[in-house]
Amino acid sequence: MDGDLLQRFDEHITGKGYANRSEALRDLVRADLVDAHLQRDGLAVATLTLVYDHHVRELSEKLTDMQHELGEHVVSTLHVHLDHDHCLEVIVLRGPAGLIQTAADRLLATKGVEHGRLVATALPGHTHHHDDRQHQGTR
Ligand code: NI
Repeated sequence: MDGDLLQRFDEHITGKGYANRSEALRDLVRADLVDAHLQRDGLAVATLTLVYDHHVRELSEKLTDMQHELGEHVVSTLHVHLDHDHCLEVIVLRGPAGLIQTAADRLLATKGVEHGRLVATALPGHTHHHDDRQHQGTR
């Protein structure tokens, strides 16, 4: 790995409060394994956080329409009017990991969505389905 990249990584992890590089790498590896686990095992629960500019034409309607299309996979939505221009939405999703990832990608890619992140985890009690055909779209 080149020295400049390593230096930036070290600065980044120091800012996050890591004592050393190996601790930070351990967490990265764990996160990657969780993602891989999701890909294999199917059902997941997730929160999708979006910050968007609600003045963008028809954006709120588009985001709401997408959530209606997801039907029962949207468990709940929290909406906060952040300031004059911005809304925060936290969407709780539940279903096949591939479907959740695809839906999140679409929502995040919608014009006017400024920030966002999907946090997903395997649904407790519903792991080890091992039906890989169904979930190849994940990540
Ligand atoms: Ni709002």
